[in-house]
Amino acid sequence: MTSPSATAPTPKGTGTLVDTGAARHSRILGVGAYRPARVVMNSEIVDKIDSSDEWIRERSGIISRHYAAADESVIDMAEAASRQALEHAGVTPEQIGFVLVATVTHPYQTPAAAPELASRLGSTAPALDISAACAGYCYGVAMASDMVKAGSADYVLVVGVEKLSDFTDPYDRGSAFIFGDGAGACVIGPSDTPGIGPTVWGSDGTQRDAITQRQAWTDVRESWQSAQADKNVWPAIGMAGQTVFRWAVWGMAPVAQQAIDKAGIKADDLDAFIPHQANIRIIDAMVKQLKLPADIPVARDIVTTANTSAASVPLAMTRMLAEKEIPSGGLALQIGFGAGLVYAAQVVVLP
Ligand code: UT7
Repeated sequence: MTSPSATAPTPKGTGTLVDTGAARHSRILGVGAYRPARVVMNSEIVDKIDSSDEWIRERSGIISRHYAAADESVIDMAEAASRQALEHAGVTPEQIGFVLVATVTHPYQTPAAAPELASRLGSTAPALDISAACAGYCYGVAMASDMVKAGSADYVLVVGVEKLSDFTDPYDRGSAFIFGDGAGACVIGPSDTPGIGPTVWGSDGTQRDAITQRQAWTDVRESWQSAQADKNVWPAIGMAGQTVFRWAVWGMAPVAQQAIDKAGIKADDLDAFIPHQANIRIIDAMVKQLKLPADIPVARDIVTTANTSAASVPLAMTRMLAEKEIPSGGLALQIGFGAGLVYAAQVVVLP
């Protein structure tokens, strides 16, 4: 070690880092969606949780959800949604500069899902997963937008994908009915005009227990290594429903309002409201609190898709665009929120 009195070396000053280009705008160029083939009605779920179709519809708005096949992985679903998004955007796999996959149900701690997805698409772009639960896609959109604006990538593929059926306890009354599987994706690239407004985002780690994998992997290691198979537990995701419900109803409308304000627009200017599909009553409460005009289309994809966590916003947006419910080039307010607790909202121009 050099002595403390030694003077710090002087920079050579002979090299200047390349200027990666002036800040530019970004926008969503294309979106894609994938819902697994198997439709699961409430009637298939209720017996194990002493519930009813009526209760689930009334309390959550959900009528059915899709479950992936046993051999259908998070990466399979992500690939299908990504191919659609790339085609919609008119972007080739070789042009992808970064791959961001938002998921909490890829069943490998390592490696991440994103590099495998990239390689399936024929890309060797840098790739990583985002663990921000139901806010993951909106986090990804914010990060991708900043990458494009800063010039570190020209085209970024953002995917929200979940196979929640793998991590749901079918006997847990508080969560068994709420989750579904699916994937949604978008491609973000350069734009002449602003296409993604400032993101309002944050976290509250004091509420880490509100939605959580019940056991850490290290907690179950001993039981898995022992011969006592009856003691084995599967660390499914549990949720303190009422706690999260109250937080979402009272906390998320102000976040959405800030995203509108920071974008420099008024609620009246919106062509779509696409909130995370957690519960139809949360969606209705947000519409009311935001005083959204009655003619603005609101995503209610939860009815037949349930809560697909990171995938819910792009799944809903893709469907609304495909069904011509919302206009290409219009303004959409999107917001994701969930386990962490974490949230992110932004106004985007629809592709
Ligand atoms: O995606 C991440 C963010 N997640 C969310 O935002 C989800 C937020 N939470 C929710 O959406 C709601 O809390 C749920 C849909 C999960 C539950 O609805 P709730 O209105 O909060 O139900 P609750 O837990 O207050 O239960 C109401 C009643 C209770 O009976 P009593 O005490 O009123 O007699 C429960 O025992 O419903 C009963 N109950 C059920 N009944 C039939 C609870 N779960 C069930 C069930 N089936 N599955």
